[in-house]
Amino acid sequence: MSGIFQQWLPILILMLMVVLRIESFNVDITYVESAVAKGAVCLDGSPPAYHFDKGFGAGANSWLIQIEGGGWCNNVTTCLARKNTRLGSSKQMIKQIAFSGILSNKPQFNPDFYNWNRIKVRYCDGASFTGDIEAVNPATNLHYRGARVFLAVIEDLFAKGMKNAENAILSGCSAGGLASILHCDSFKALFTTGTKVKCFSDAGYFINARDVAGGLHIADFYSDVVRTHGSAKNLPASCSSRLNPGLCFFPQYVMQGIRTPIFIVNAAYDSWQIKNILAPGVADPHGIWHSCKLDILKCSGSQIEAMQGFRSEFLYAFSKIGASPARGYFINSCYAHCQTEMQETWLSADSPALDGKTIAEATGDWFYDRKPFQKIDCPYPCDNTCHNRVFDPHEHPLI
Ligand SMILES: *[C@@H]1O[C@H](CO)[C@@H](O)[C@H](O)[C@H]1NC(C)=O
Repeated sequence: MSGIFQQWLPILILMLMVVLRIESFNVDITYVESAVAKGAVCLDGSPPAYHFDKGFGAGANSWLIQIEGGGWCNNVTTCLARKNTRLGSSKQMIKQIAFSGILSNKPQFNPDFYNWNRIKVRYCDGASFTGDIEAVNPATNLHYRGARVFLAVIEDLFAKGMKNAENAILSGCSAGGLASILHCDSFKALFTTGTKVKCFSDAGYFINARDVAGGLHIADFYSDVVRTHGSAKNLPASCSSRLNPGLCFFPQYVMQGIRTPIFIVNAAYDSWQIKNILAPGVADPHGIWHSCKLDILKCSGSQIEAMQGFRSEFLYAFSKIGASPARGYFINSCYAHCQTEMQETWLSADSPALDGKTIAEATGDWFYDRKPFQKIDCPYPCDNTCHNRVFDPHEHPLI
């Protein structure tokens, strides 16, 4: 038995390597040099950047923008710490990145969008592309210009043909998923009525919940982000005209005002939200949550109970999305964060599913108006299609 296994093992490994290679491919970086003259720059003043894979065949005139995630910086200290990293400077970004999942160019991996123009916009401002402060303090050289970066990138893509798109999707994951919600209507407004425009947010539905110590950690944090970056004027006016702008970073206060069709993918036990909203380090000084945050199987009964409470709050905040069929959603009960950029969770033989539909199928059905999709999973641990995340204790918790 073990002899046979040993004999086949190298072949299995080889096959796995071949499969993994086909599943993703590398796409070169493009710097938007023309943005610099408009003051549309990354935190350190460098030009913004994206990775672009050209559409072909029937998809040649359709455009999918995927905004990269990577947390936020909320004050001078944290923005300085980010400034000279890939999340604050295009000088620090790697020159090629792998496209897979929703960015794949193969019909078997990405049946509805594989032949579209696919763009991954690099995140380099630290405020989900909402900031705009003219002044630059020479002592820090920090540029809070995310909103300008977003516009400059779109203008650059318009010049490359997106202006006359037949279909366009603004999507993103995590902080990028939040950007796709916050910019959804203003993105749609840039197109003529001839373009079918929709938005798509993966793991961007961050909720305003108390942490395990009873504090308002995330609300304070977002309020600092909005103040530091001067974001208020670039948040949806339907929210900022009636609420404190700091709150308008939360989708639950913004969604009601959004008029463009939008699809939300989120785990009700989103791992970033459990780690940073429910049980952030400041609310857990003794590290009781440490191993649970790394692996949901290590959570105690009372921690699971707290997470069930978080799910209830999530679903309440999510109910603000409304019932319109133009809004699609896929809310599963996994311990996950960002499920569309990885082939395993977007579309594969064992990827997450709700009522038998993968995220890729649900998204395609919704975009092309084949069928509405609005599904919320039963509570943990009912769903055996989940790919629950297990984190390395040394991993940086930004994404
Ligand atoms: C900046 O924000 C971080 C993270 O919330 C916090 O720990 C730190 O105290 C803040 N620093 C200042 C100077 O406000």
